[in-house]
Amino acid sequence: MTSLLPRPDLLSPLSGSFELPAGATVSGPAVLADAVRRALVFLDLRPGDSGEIDVREDPALGPEAYRLTTGSRGVEIVAGGRAGAFYAAQTLHQLLPAAAYRFCEGGSWPVPGVRVEDSPAYGWRGLHLDVARHFFPKREVLRLVDLMAVHKLNRLHLHLVDDQGWRVESRAYPRLHEVGSHRPRTAVHAWGEPEEYEEVPHGGYYTLEDLREIAAYARSREVVIVPEIDVPGHATAILAAYPEFGPTGEPYQVLDKWGISSAILSPLPRTVEFLTAIFDEILAALGPTPYFHIGGDEVVLDHWAESAQIVAYQKSLGLASVAELHAWFLRRLADVLAERGSRAVVWDEAFVSGELRADTIVMPWRGMGVGRRAAAAGHDVIACPVFPLYFDYAEAGSPEEPRAIGDAITVADVAAFAPAPESWSAEEAARVLGVQAQLWSERIGDGRLLDYRAWPRACALAEVGWAGSGGEDFASRLTAHLERLDALGVEYRPLAGPRPWQRRRPHRPSTVPVAEATARWEERTLSAESTRPSV
Ligand code: ACM
Repeated sequence: MTSLLPRPDLLSPLSGSFELPAGATVSGPAVLADAVRRALVFLDLRPGDSGEIDVREDPALGPEAYRLTTGSRGVEIVAGGRAGAFYAAQTLHQLLPAAAYRFCEGGSWPVPGVRVEDSPAYGWRGLHLDVARHFFPKREVLRLVDLMAVHKLNRLHLHLVDDQGWRVESRAYPRLHEVGSHRPRTAVHAWGEPEEYEEVPHGGYYTLEDLREIAAYARSREVVIVPEIDVPGHATAILAAYPEFGPTGEPYQVLDKWGISSAILSPLPRTVEFLTAIFDEILAALGPTPYFHIGGDEVVLDHWAESAQIVAYQKSLGLASVAELHAWFLRRLADVLAERGSRAVVWDEAFVSGELRADTIVMPWRGMGVGRRAAAAGHDVIACPVFPLYFDYAEAGSPEEPRAIGDAITVADVAAFAPAPESWSAEEAARVLGVQAQLWSERIGDGRLLDYRAWPRACALAEVGWAGSGGEDFASRLTAHLERLDALGVEYRPLAGPRPWQRRRPHRPSTVPVAEATARWEERTLSAESTRPSV
């Protein structure tokens, strides 16, 4: 039987099969038929009247839900909306041999007879990509969108700024991309080792036209781009361009090594005006942007506490501490975004520091303990804890792995993850919008290593996000699915370990496995202090 991944709600074999010819036609309402043709672009389908593939709409189904029936009469799709038609076509693609994931001219494909009924468990099935620590050119982002679509993943969170780089053109503040988008060299040493640098400049940024294209390309594949401008910490690249938005005005250089820096933006009104101008540029480029991430993680508040002007401002607002001022600042920005039709998303420290806008979505990266507290306080949450959803960690604690920040997070760990743990109340569980894996790029310098880190763990993520949990037969379906990734040219990590050329600079195995280390962090989530080891 065919190996669908992610697994559908229902799959039953039917008698009869079908031969889908080259140039087959798709009939039905244009919006749905176009979605099917877009999903199956390799198959060169044409619009037609009574097609081999017929699509109908049933608004009683959810927007992403579909029914797919294949048999001797052809292919019938009933979809709740455009996304449902797109996902039905992705499932149809998986019914064909893996060779159908290669572009080829002519030919026809055997389609087994099946009935599939399907809808996602979670609406947010996300991947995060850190394009700040290492820049990934537009072509890599578009390719990642294509691979996400194959897996029914639907949110791409782009971490567009950090201490080591600013990655978007700004016409209002051009020094951001002119100065903030590159650094002269990059640290390559592991945590605890003597400092060592690759003495080569690194940089890059997306033009506003690039962003416009990325968003449109993603939308047409049912992927929503979630931009992140991480503030007020992680601000070195911004301050290298515009030191006047810092509390002291002191000069900065774009950072060339990793870890948590004390660089922070001032929370005063002119910083809010500055960020509003940046948001407006990004929103104008992206088009409709339902979610906008504003960071809030790993903030070192010392420079605020040392500034008489900032402390006076905090008191004038009736706030008890600079930690509350942190939450207040993010609330101001969330208000600005709400006026523009976007909901703010933050990392969990922001929730711990004080009161956020009620509709702000919280990402509990430090563990589901803090996620539960955010859910209990009425915030929607996206499950994204380090263990097992930080895909920058190695898959094995072995020096054969390419160097990673820690280890080990396996495909099976991801497949076993429960976005809404059983111990949570029904109200708390209902706050979980979905699940997201993170690809931080301190140790991912190029697209080939990105493939290796992302896949096949993101296949397990897709299974959890779509089906709600990893199925018992996930491992055997994954083995078959890897043939599709081979056909697509994905340089994933083989299940048995890296190929010789995938080893690179050797990993230094951790003394404390990530599962154990993160269990300890859970206990400390009451504090706003960061707990991620820095390298
Ligand atoms: C994070 O890892 N600092 C969100």
